[in-house]
Amino acid sequence: MSKWIDIGSQDQFAQGSSACITVEDESVVICNVDGQLAAVLNVCPHAHLPIGEGELRGSILVCPFHGYAYNVLTGRNADFPNEELPATTFPIRVTEAGHVEIDIANPSDHRLKTSDS
Ligand code: FES
Repeated sequence: MSKWIDIGSQDQFAQGSSACITVEDESVVICNVDGQLAAVLNVCPHAHLPIGEGELRGSILVCPFHGYAYNVLTGRNADFPNEELPATTFPIRVTEAGHVEIDIANPSDHRLKTSDS
């Protein structure tokens, strides 16, 4: 079941920016990649440290701790695409009224596997 949460106006997320927000007790990084929004859990899969203060380079978010890089649109590790440690992403959409919503109840599959184990 989906749980879409309004996280604010589209205008708050400038092109090329990333911002950490809290949604339902989860820290999430909202990235604007050339006008396309992405939502990534603020936990780096490498050592479970916060990735949100990392630098966004196009669609790649670079973790500030050890430099692992993730494509925020797919969650895949940019340097090791076959790596089985993708970042956790959330569905994100913009309403007709220009509000941004994320589906906090449907993180990417990796997150589900991790929490079930
Ligand atoms: S914790 Fe992110 S690269 Fe190590």
